[in-house]
Amino acid sequence: MPDIACVNGHFGPVAEAVVSIEDRGFQFGDGVYEVIRTYREKPFALDEHFARFERSAQALDLSLGRTKDQWMALIQEGLRLSRFPETKIYLQVTRGQAPRDHPFPASPVPTTVLTFRELHSLDSSIRKAGVRAITVDDIRWGRCDIKSVNLLANVLARQRAKEADAFEAILVRDGLVTEGSVSNVMIVRNGVIETAPEGHRILSGVTRAIVLDLARKEGLPVVESFVGRDDLLTASEVFLTGTTVEVLPVVRIDGHEIGAGVPGPLSQRLSRRWEALIS
Ligand code: PDD
Repeated sequence: MPDIACVNGHFGPVAEAVVSIEDRGFQFGDGVYEVIRTYREKPFALDEHFARFERSAQALDLSLGRTKDQWMALIQEGLRLSRFPETKIYLQVTRGQAPRDHPFPASPVPTTVLTFRELHSLDSSIRKAGVRAITVDDIRWGRCDIKSVNLLANVLARQRAKEADAFEAILVRDGLVTEGSVSNVMIVRNGVIETAPEGHRILSGVTRAIVLDLARKEGLPVVESFVGRDDLLTASEVFLTGTTVEVLPVVRIDGHEIGAGVPGPLSQRLSRRWEALIS
């Protein structure tokens, strides 16, 4: 089965899907997106993802182009057509096609795109061993809570990670850890889970919220406040959360071993809780 795309309501193979060069998504990055995955063929945390999609669009005064029910129907149709064992569902809306001019067009017609691709989970040996990360200056704009398609700073950060043979780039702004280029970051210090607070500096990860909830239910103390880069390097555990990474231990950052250099007990415990939740 080929990867499936849906452009403005029309389904077809991704390879044949096109939008105009005048699309404001292409010209300005004037759009928002979501990445949702399936577990056992069902979209996971769909309402939470859609709520964030709506919030992102609203923050940019952008119309989603269709109702929630219509988006849901397109998602179901895409899953029906693609029929992968597990699917990565991508939703995107932009302010549509207009001659290049910065202000909004007078009557924008949003461009809506969905793609359905086979999701290949991270190799379990990688998950078991933990991954390496590097720290990178967080040079993104001031509204990282909006899941905008403007991902240049994230792209550059992840490319630096790739060149350093690391899995993730952990972003640091004014000495404080914000999040990863494609994930949220949590540390464990003195048995307490610490992670950056929601606000304009980070994306409010759907996985982040669920994992913090799992941690609280486990009776683990959670503090939502910024930690410094030094705290990150000297933490007993560090892990990433996100739709594609789930709960992923980090065992080395900028060449420094984290804790004992292997996934720590709390990361493993939360990873198991996560597995239980999705199964
Ligand atoms: N990224 N922070 C950033 C900057 C992200 O891009 C993501 C997700 C997250 C985690 O959010 P969630 O748990 O809702 O997936 C945090 C997606 C997967 C992406 O851009 O591909």
